[in-house]
Amino acid sequence: MTDQWNTAITEIEPNSVRVRGYDIADLMGHVSFGAAVYLILQGELPSQAVGRLMDAIVVSSIDHGATPPSVLSARTVASTGATLSASVAAGIMSINKHHGGAIANCARQLGRIIKRVGGNESALDQAAAAELAELKSNGQRMSGFGHRVHTADPRTSRLFELAEHAGACGEHVAAARAVERCFAKAGKKLPINVDGAIGAILADLGFSHAVMNGLFMIARVPGLVAHVAEEQDRMKPMRRVIPGQHKYDGPAPRSINDDKQ
Ligand SMILES: CC(C)(COP(=O)(O)OP(=O)(O)OC[C@H]1O[C@@H](n2cnc3c(N)ncnc32)[C@H](O)[C@@H]1OP(=O)(O)O)[C@@H](O)C(=O)NCCC(=O)NCCS
Repeated sequence: MTDQWNTAITEIEPNSVRVRGYDIADLMGHVSFGAAVYLILQGELPSQAVGRLMDAIVVSSIDHGATPPSVLSARTVASTGATLSASVAAGIMSINKHHGGAIANCARQLGRIIKRVGGNESALDQAAAAELAELKSNGQRMSGFGHRVHTADPRTSRLFELAEHAGACGEHVAAARAVERCFAKAGKKLPINVDGAIGAILADLGFSHAVMNGLFMIARVPGLVAHVAEEQDRMKPMRRVIPGQHKYDGPAPRSINDDKQ
């Protein structure tokens, strides 16, 4: 057959679905969503600890309230009477180098710092400073650092904690720490943001740059669907979606430990 083309992702035969070789019925109920995402993107199942880390990455980025550009885009499009798919797609199209897209950029920039170090770990801070100076002179920013709202993002510390536990903190995480130290030394409060943490961790897990921003999209779709559904359900069509003019009226703070009792 001359028109044949190959795919190594999922094999479908009558009454059989195999993802990367694994029977999907065996995966179901045994493998978490994060581990399945790792499997489909990397081709192998992760260790249990890395599976938990992948789950945490997906959970960390599920939503960040009503101010991110992707949510404002999705809600604005939904307010015109657009379908769920068009509205969510508008949100996804707003994920770019400064929003969500910083993951791959950060991993690339950390990779450049590692190259500068050239195996001499004691030169890490110097290499980070040199990379930041070069970025500044080119009018560029270090992706994955700084945040409009948080100075100590609770998501990044938890991700690094889980990455440490999973043995997934390697040279990219070390380089990210060095960048943070450089900013602090220069008197700039620019902590690693959630994109930066995810970029560093995914790079240390061996993910290719090409799929990294996809992890943020995979994580954010449930949040976008919730925002579009709420827009369609609660708001007037063609309203002016004014950034920051919203008030949260959902459940009061509660703990997962309360639900376990
Ligand atoms: C997230 C972000 C837009 C927030 O910006 P902000 O808090 O509004 O800060 P500003 O754009 O006003 O910048 C304040 C100062 O910090 C500097 N700065 C902010 N983020 C920086 C970064 N990532 N790298 C280098 N310098 C940075 C600015 O150059 C500016 O310096 P100046 O006062 O000497 O001119 C910004 O930090 C950024 O562009 N980060 C990189 C992209 C990124 O990681 N996006 C994902 C966010 S979750």
